Amino acid sequence: MSVAPMMDWTDRHCRFFHRLLSRRTRLYTEMVTTGALLHGDVPRHLDFDASEHPVALQLGGSEPADLARCAKLGVEWGYDEINLNCGCPSERVQRGAFGACLMAEPALVADCVKAMVDAVDVPVTVKHRIGIDKVESYAFVRDFVGTVAQAGCGVFMVHARNAWLKGLSPKENREVPPLRYEMVHRLKREFPDLVIGINGGITDDPTVHGQLEELDGVMIGREAYHHPWWLARWDELFYGEPASGLGREQVEEAMVAYMEREHAQRGTPGIPSPAT
Ligand SMILES: Cc1cc2nc3c(=O)[nH]c(=O)nc-3n(C[C@H](O)[C@H](O)[C@H](O)COP(=O)(O)O)c2cc1C
Repeated sequence: MSVAPMMDWTDRHCRFFHRLLSRRTRLYTEMVTTGALLHGDVPRHLDFDASEHPVALQLGGSEPADLARCAKLGVEWGYDEINLNCGCPSERVQRGAFGACLMAEPALVADCVKAMVDAVDVPVTVKHRIGIDKVESYAFVRDFVGTVAQAGCGVFMVHARNAWLKGLSPKENREVPPLRYEMVHRLKREFPDLVIGINGGITDDPTVHGQLEELDGVMIGREAYHHPWWLARWDELFYGEPASGLGREQVEEAMVAYMEREHAQRGTPGIPSPAT
């Protein structure tokens, strides 16, 4: 199980909260662009609480050398996985020539993956769509996965709908293109040695159980954010392990203690911390 990368949502505080609810679920950061890391405030983008493990850093970029440097930075900061975003359709991301438009350039993605694999010793993974624009053919996503796998990526998280690069907002691109889970199942059948996870529109236990019969993992986005208490059952339901056992009030108390600790260490933006 994993919680999907979600810009402005799955920040470190959200991840700390999710970790209180499930010990096993893998948590993804928001997408961090190579530009933000190479020219910006690295601690602000990469710092996280030790309790968040296992935690994956999602990078956005399309320049192999830059991605390799950022992957290395991520591992130095302690991330357990480096994930490349090949699924985001926003215009800003398209202007940067990364995200979903990278699916049209599998050879470039392979170069990016190879550069990162050579730079780090944690898994380098890719999150992508099943196609872009009106390309509906299975061969498109099959060739993408095949090419990228050869470069050293063994894990693919597949958002099971196309990204329409023109005419839809990012929000519409999470709702309008139809979900086609069968495409992802077909990928797993064709590449049984790869770890294939599915994402998109999954909101209940029976669907997760059903997907886990076909696939290696399930990634949940919006439902984990809007109804986080669902996570409190995942360790038991999907890992066969005892749940954390924390009740809602205990989780709330832990969050309050976390906020006090954070405030003491870092302050609130615009308000000096007590320590300074
Ligand atoms: C607010 C928001 C921000 C998102 N940001 C990212 C992102 O930074 N990187 C990414 O790969 N996907 C991003 N996504 C897409 C999600 O990771 C996921 O693929 C999508 O929401 C479909 O899964 P769901 O139906 O379970 O929500 C975002 C989604 C939302 C709702």
